Amino acid sequence: MHHGTTITQFIAEEQRHIPGATGDFTALLNDIVTACKMISNQVNHGALVGALGSADSENIQGETQKKLDVLSNQMFIQCTEWSGHVGALASEEMDDIYDIPAEYPRGKYLLTFDPLDGSSNIDVNVSVGTIFSILRVAGNEKPIANDFLQAGTQQVAAGYALYGPSTMLVLTTGQGVNGFTLDQNIGEFILTHPNMTIPADTAEFAINASNSRFWEAPVKRYVDECLAGKEGPREKDFNMRWIASMVAEVHRILTRGGVFMYPMDSKMSAKGQGGKLRLLYEANPMSFIVEQAGGGSITGAQRIMELQPESLHQRVPVILGSRNEVERIQGYHSAD
Ligand code: AHG
Ligand code: MN
Ligand code: MN
Ligand code: MN
Repeated sequence: MHHGTTITQFIAEEQRHIPGATGDFTALLNDIVTACKMISNQVNHGALVGALGSADSENIQGETQKKLDVLSNQMFIQCTEWSGHVGALASEEMDDIYDIPAEYPRGKYLLTFDPLDGSSNIDVNVSVGTIFSILRVAGNEKPIANDFLQAGTQQVAAGYALYGPSTMLVLTTGQGVNGFTLDQNIGEFILTHPNMTIPADTAEFAINASNSRFWEAPVKRYVDECLAGKEGPREKDFNMRWIASMVAEVHRILTRGGVFMYPMDSKMSAKGQGGKLRLLYEANPMSFIVEQAGGGSITGAQRIMELQPESLHQRVPVILGSRNEVERIQGYHSAD
C-alpha cells in the first residue's frame, strides 16, 4: 500500500516554491512536529505514567496547572530551543518569554504556543491539543517581550495538534489548510485531509451556555435566534456542541462547519479581563487557520488578526467559524 505524503515531505515541497527559503522554516516545523509526537505519547499513556492530575502551581493567568501542562511546555521547549531557528518562545504556561540558552544559537523565528489546550479535560480523558504560531524576529537580535506583540496578519505559520481518537496535526503556512494523521506504526504524520475548507453555512453552534446571563447583547440575540429553530427568524433548527477544548471545537468546524464562541461577558469585564482566550497562543493561530480555510474570526465587531496585541498574555473574545454566520454576528455587533 502506498503510504502517502509525510508532513516533512509536504512542508519541504511547499517551501521549495518560496523564493529565498533556506530550509530553516522546514527544520523548525519538523521540531514542532516532534514536540507534538512527544506530547501525544504522554497524553496517550496518561495514568500509566502518572501524568494525570494537577501540579502544585498556578500559571500567570491564575489557572491551576495540570502536570501535563507543565510537561508539555517542557517538551515543546526541549524540542525547539537547540536548533538555531528560534529567537525566543512565549507560552501560556510561562510568565515571561523564554530566552534561548547561551549554549545555543538564536534564530530568526519567534514561537508562541498553548502546550496543552483543554487541559481541564485531561483527567476525564476527553480530547486535548497543542496550538502554535510562528512569527518573524523583527529587529532585536535578542528578542524581548515586545517583539511578540505582532498582529495575527504577520504570522508565518500556525497549527494545532489534536490528541483525540487519532492524533492529527493541522497546519497553515498561508497557502490553505492541510491535515495530517499520525500513523503510530511508523511514527509519521501522513497527509489525510488536503485543502480543508469550512462550509460557509451551518446549523451548529458551540458556546458555554452557563454564561448566558452574562453575555453581551448581540451574542444573546444570535443564540436566542438559533434556539428558536424553525419557528424563529432563522427558519431552521440548530444543533449545539460544547467540548470545552478549543482545538477539538475548531477541528469539528474545519470538518463539518459550525460557529465557536467565547464572547465578551459582564463577569469578565467586571474583573477587567478582555475575554477568556489568549490572543497570542489561541485566538491568533486559530484565526489564521480558520480564515485560510475560508471561515471568519472576530472579537465581535473586529477581525481578530488585525488587533494590535498589547501584552503577552492578553485575552480577547473569540467568535469563529462558518463565514456567513460569523458575518451575521458581526452585523449584530455593528447594529448594537
Ligand atoms: P486551556 O486548557 O489551554 O487553558 O484552554 C481552555 C480554553 C479552551 O480550550 C476552551 O474552549 C475553554 O477554555 C473552555 O472554557 P470553559 O471551561 O469556560 O467552558
Ligand atoms: Mn490553561
Ligand atoms: Mn487553551
Ligand atoms: Mn493550555
